[in-house]
Amino acid sequence: MLVVLEDDDRSLSRDAARIVAHTVLSQPRVTLGLATGSTPIGMYRELVRLNREEKLDFSHVVTFNLDEYIGLTPGHPQSYHAYMARHFFDHVNIPPENIHIPDGSVRPSYDEYCAWYEACIREAGGIDLQVLGIGKEGHIGFNESSSSLRSRTRPKVLAIQTVKDNRRFFGPREDVPDCAITMGLGTIMDARKILLLASGAHKAKAVAAAVEGPVTASVTASVLQFHPHVTVLADRDAAAELRRTSDYRRIMEMTRKTNSGRLW
Ligand code: PGA
Repeated sequence: MLVVLEDDDRSLSRDAARIVAHTVLSQPRVTLGLATGSTPIGMYRELVRLNREEKLDFSHVVTFNLDEYIGLTPGHPQSYHAYMARHFFDHVNIPPENIHIPDGSVRPSYDEYCAWYEACIREAGGIDLQVLGIGKEGHIGFNESSSSLRSRTRPKVLAIQTVKDNRRFFGPREDVPDCAITMGLGTIMDARKILLLASGAHKAKAVAAAVEGPVTASVTASVLQFHPHVTVLADRDAAAELRRTSDYRRIMEMTRKTNSGRLW
C-alpha cells in the first residue's frame, strides 16, 4: 500500500486526477471503477479540465460505478446517475454505452440484476483502476461494517451513520434512502489497481483503522491491506491519526527518486 500524504483537498484532487489521467493515457481502453460522494468531486473537475484543455481522450474508456441508492430512479437529482452526469459524464467524451451504473429501481430479483452487473464487469475484462472514497466508519462502496470480505454486488441496508451522513444531500422533507445496490468487497478486490481518497478530519479514524489497524469486517476498507496495488491519497486532516507518517514520507521520497520525480 502506497500512502501519499497530501497537503489539502486541492492537491489530493489534482494527484487523483493525474493518476487516472496517467492510466487512461497509458491504456486508452481502460476500465475504470468510479465512486461518488463529496471526496472525488475535485478529481472529476480536474479530469474535465484535462479533457477540455489538454485533450485527454476518454472515447475508449469503460466505466462501472460502485453503487446506487435503491428506490431512486436514474432521473432523481440525488441519484448517483445524476451525480455522475453533473460532475463528469456530461462534460467528457465517454460514450454513453460504455457507462455502467447500478440501477436502483426497485425490482423483483436483485440476485439476477446483481449477477448481471458482475457479468458486465467480467465481460469488460475486469476493472483496471478502482477509485474509492471511505466512509466515517470505514466503509468502501456501501459495504458497511460486518459485510462479508468476499462479497459481490448485492443490495445492502445502510448503516444509521451513513444515512445521517447522506442527509446533507437531500432536502429537509425528503426521505434519505436506507438501502443501496453496491459492488461487494470481493468485486472491489478484483480490480487490478485501487485508488482510495480520503479528505477531512472526520475521516481520520477510518483512515488509520483501514491502513494501520487489523483487517476486520468492522472496518471494511481494511481488507485493502490484502490487495497488491493500493494507493491511498489522504490530506493532512484525514491522515492526522496515522502513526507511521515518517515511514510513508520516506517511501514517497524513495519512489520519487527512482521514478523521475513521479509517484506513479
Ligand atoms: P464522502 O463519502 O466522499 O461524501 O465523504 C465517502 C463514502 O461514504 O464512501
